[in-house]
Amino acid sequence: MLKIVPLSREHDRAAFDCGVAELNAFLKATARQRGEKGLSRTFVLADGDEPAVILGFFTLTLCELTAEPLPPAYAAMYPGHNLPAVRLARLAVSIRHQGRGYGTLMVAEAVNRTILIADQAGSIGLFVDAKNNRVEYFYRRYGFVSLPGQYKTLFLPLKTLRAAIKPH
Ligand SMILES: CC(C)(COP(=O)(O)OP(=O)(O)OC[C@H]1O[C@@H](n2cnc3c(N)ncnc32)[C@H](O)[C@@H]1OP(=O)(O)O)[C@@H](O)C(=O)NCCC(=O)NCCS
Repeated sequence: MLKIVPLSREHDRAAFDCGVAELNAFLKATARQRGEKGLSRTFVLADGDEPAVILGFFTLTLCELTAEPLPPAYAAMYPGHNLPAVRLARLAVSIRHQGRGYGTLMVAEAVNRTILIADQAGSIGLFVDAKNNRVEYFYRRYGFVSLPGQYKTLFLPLKTLRAAIKPH
C-alpha cells in the first residue's frame, strides 16, 4: 500500500532519479537538513512493502508576499496586507514510476496539508514555480492559475483548495 511519510534517514535517497539533476541533488544533499532546521518539510511517497524506496517526493515551505503579483480578483481581496502562503517548493516522481498518477497523488496531499496550515495559522493558498510549459500544464489541471505576467508561477487559491476536498 502506498503511503506518504516525512523524509527520514531510512529512505534511500541515493537511488532516486527523476531525470532532473537539480531535484535529485536537492533530495540527496539538502532536503533532510532543511527539514531539521525548520526551513521546509519534505515528504516521500513509498510502498509499504519497500518503505526505503522513494517513488516520489515533494517539499512544502512557507512564504510571504504582497497582493501586487496576484490576479486582480484576488489582489482586490487583500489590500495592504503581507500575505502568508504555502509553496510547493519541489515535486518529483522517479523516472521508472512517472505517468502512474503519483504526481497527482502528491499534489492532492500538498493540498490537504496546505488546508491544515491555513486552518491553524492562515494561508491564502498554495504557490508553485513550474519548471517548463509541460509542467505548467500539469499544475493547471488541478485549478492552479498563473500570476499575471509570470505564467510559470502558479497559485491555487484557498477557496479552490477547500472546494477540491469537499465531498461531491
Ligand atoms: C511532473 C511530474 C511530477 C508528474 O508526475 P507523474 O506521476 O508522472 O504525473 P501523473 O501520472 O500524476 O500525471 C497526471 C497527468 O499529467 C500528465 N503529465 C505527467 N507528467 C507530466 C509532465 N512532466 N508535464 C506535463 N504533464 C505531465 C500526465 O499525462 C497525466 O495526464 P493523464 O491523466 O491525462 O494521462 C513528473 O513527471 C516528474 O517528476 N517530472 C520530473 C521532475 C519535474 O519536472 N518536476 C516538476 C517541478 S516544477
